[in-house]
Amino acid sequence: MDETGFVMCGALVHSTDAEPLEIMQHKCIGVKEGKIVFIENEDALSEKIKEFGIPQTDITYLKKGQFLCPGFVDTHLHAPQYPNCGKGLDMGLLDWLQTYTFPTEAKFSDLKYADMVYRKAVRRVLRNGTTTGCYFATLHTDATLLLCDVIKVKKRNYPHITPIVTPRFALSCCQELMSKLGDLAKAYDLPIQTHICETRDEVRIVGETFPGCESYAAMVLAHGIYLSDNEIALIKARNSAISHCPNSNFSIRSGVLDLRRLEEARIKVGLGTDISGGYHPSMLNAIRTAVFVSNIHHIEAEHANYKALSVHEAFRLATLGGAKALGLDNRIGNFAVGKDFDALLIDPSADGSHVDVLPDDSFSDSDDRNILSIYVAGRKVIS
Ligand code: GUN
Ligand code: FE
Repeated sequence: MDETGFVMCGALVHSTDAEPLEIMQHKCIGVKEGKIVFIENEDALSEKIKEFGIPQTDITYLKKGQFLCPGFVDTHLHAPQYPNCGKGLDMGLLDWLQTYTFPTEAKFSDLKYADMVYRKAVRRVLRNGTTTGCYFATLHTDATLLLCDVIKVKKRNYPHITPIVTPRFALSCCQELMSKLGDLAKAYDLPIQTHICETRDEVRIVGETFPGCESYAAMVLAHGIYLSDNEIALIKARNSAISHCPNSNFSIRSGVLDLRRLEEARIKVGLGTDISGGYHPSMLNAIRTAVFVSNIHHIEAEHANYKALSVHEAFRLATLGGAKALGLDNRIGNFAVGKDFDALLIDPSADGSHVDVLPDDSFSDSDDRNILSIYVAGRKVIS
């Protein structure tokens, strides 16, 4: 279908800097070689398909009530932990790592096991509408290359995969390793990801282990619940981002992140499922849980004007916010000419869910059954 391009006509729902949820009715979005080439009103369609040489037969009209939204960006998830989803709601991070996580990850020296798990994990993540994921793998090189193969079945040039330097967290690294990884990231101009200030115990032990360090926010990402003001200032100065993982933060009892504090400091924030600290790879679940976290701050706030996160703002974190957090907003995150067509076809009333749900409300109660088709860079990967 994408050789000559295609057009989809109907409602487009996405986020912009100005609006957390913009609904564009009766639009035609043209896609060629994986990229969005036009977004026009229906009266301009015949002229546009001529300009881009798109056949009439490759125009699809969405049914009433359906809409397209951008694919979700999961800014933090662990592919090898997929078998453990749902385990460990009964303990905190450090016990959870020892009991479930490290033993499971050790199994990835076995490529057959890795192949079986990674196929399932990637398929399930995709099926839940995540079209970009910032994955942790394991220390096993061959298994990690296999994960790349599973994500992108092509020759090993991986046009849609970026390597990321991954010191797991401060407690699994020494100073020398950290500084060498920093050199590597600089030399190859690579992003870095890690876990930071996730639990009170972890912050305390890191303080004892690295007594000379004022702060351990050299380069960041996941959690950031217990950041000091100095660390927040440093993260901002380095233009780093936080991956907010609300499901995980509740499941393994880490804490209640105050998103507004990060926003006030103008730090970039995306949402993450953090499977399997979080028990489910659904970003729709992450959207709702992020709202719950914010509602807790609202309930506990000493001043009456604490503004809780809206579902629309959480949707923006799950799409455009995540794209910015990963430095990919020139390519993905919302619908704009020149960006990849990473999109979900949503039917709010699919499979027995109630009728007459407007796009405004559909992220509050949808799940994967409402996602009819999934496109990555113009390719329909699930329908
Ligand atoms: N800190 C160090 N490793 C991990 C991990 O695998 N998951 C989470 N949530 N935190 C960590
Ligand atoms: Fe994690």
